[in-house]
Amino acid sequence: MSEIDTLKNNLQKPIVLMGMMGTGKSHIGSTLAKSLGLPFYDSDRVIEEKAGCPVSEIFEIFGEEKFRASEHKTILELLNNAPCIIATGGGAPANPDTLSAIKQQSISVWLNADINSVIARLSGNTTRPLLQGDNPEQTLKDLLQKREPFYAQADIEINSADDSVHKTLAKLIKALSEHVEYVGN
Ligand code: S3P
Repeated sequence: MSEIDTLKNNLQKPIVLMGMMGTGKSHIGSTLAKSLGLPFYDSDRVIEEKAGCPVSEIFEIFGEEKFRASEHKTILELLNNAPCIIATGGGAPANPDTLSAIKQQSISVWLNADINSVIARLSGNTTRPLLQGDNPEQTLKDLLQKREPFYAQADIEINSADDSVHKTLAKLIKALSEHVEYVGN
């Protein structure tokens, strides 16, 4: 049986992608969803739909705390879905309650990339409110250091830095199919 078929036949809960901004969670997640014929949700997009404005404006108008509360609630709602793929915002797993729900109700994946690739990918980015300060590189380094212990609790870790989307996806599908076959859901 192909890895995709093993995964399709055995998957019983959502797959959650977590990791720093700039690691390709949304792109890899939507491509994985297409390969498996499953729905794809991006928690940031769902939060934006609820608020009627982009994440940057939610931070500006309501503040980060309100954004984090909405992020927690949104991810809990998305976790109630049948098998699907969920990309989460980079800060979501730093809330222990959100992380605990992700661990209990999904197969979790840490899309990891070395910090220099992340910095290069996000250079000049204007849509991430946390990177609009004087030293976005240092901010990214500090955030990664704080968040690594949370990301490291994922069931599966995949490095997304050096490979094409195609290769990263192949590694991810292999790891997921082994997980559902040998570890269970
Ligand atoms: C954030 C990451 C963003 C978004 C918000 C905050 C973070 O999502 O949720 O700007 O705290 O790392 P992506 O990881 O999809 O960029």
